[in-house]
Amino acid sequence: MIVDLGYGTGLELAWILQKAPNAEIIGIDLSESMTAVLLDHYREKRSQIKILYGSYLKVPIPGNIDFVISSQSIHHLDKPTKLSLYKKIFKALKPKGSYIEGDYAISEEEERQSDVSSKSFPLDGSYHIDIPFSVNTLLGLSSQAGFSEMNVLFYNHQCSVIQSKR
Ligand SMILES: C[S@@+](CC[C@H](N)C(=O)[O-])C[C@H]1O[C@@H](n2cnc3c(N)ncnc32)[C@H](O)[C@@H]1O
Repeated sequence: MIVDLGYGTGLELAWILQKAPNAEIIGIDLSESMTAVLLDHYREKRSQIKILYGSYLKVPIPGNIDFVISSQSIHHLDKPTKLSLYKKIFKALKPKGSYIEGDYAISEEEERQSDVSSKSFPLDGSYHIDIPFSVNTLLGLSSQAGFSEMNVLFYNHQCSVIQSKR
């Protein structure tokens, strides 16, 4: 069982369903228009895809999950909010489950210079500000959330893919 946080139109699902054609996927997203595109595109896999509309900050993530993934979706969260989401993800995973996050990442120097990273913002949906962090900050937050092993699968000074194992 895979949970996709912020699936959008489901670009990442094409690759997943190619590798694991029988995968069961639970998607959480708050965009009805993106969801409509996804459901049309994956209509032949409809029985394997369960949609939970809403914010992943509020919608409970079901338990016993093998993988939680998020691609290009959680870069607008400040540090405390990201940590609390990581803790929620940690609880949802099976003991050997993994969280895989692919998103924007900046260098530690850029992070030091950024005054946005240290601030928090209202979570009422009235804003969307990109708050990318350095890979080290993301690894630190994963560790604080309880993850036991983190691997940086990809990093190119703009984006990173990090696997955090429970
Ligand atoms: C840039 S799109 C990425 C879509 C897809 N994961 C991809 O990589 O192509 C970001 C998605 O995250 C969703 N999103 C942003 N904040 C969210 C939140 N708090 N709860 C649920 N979905 C959210 C948006 O609705 C949007 O569909």
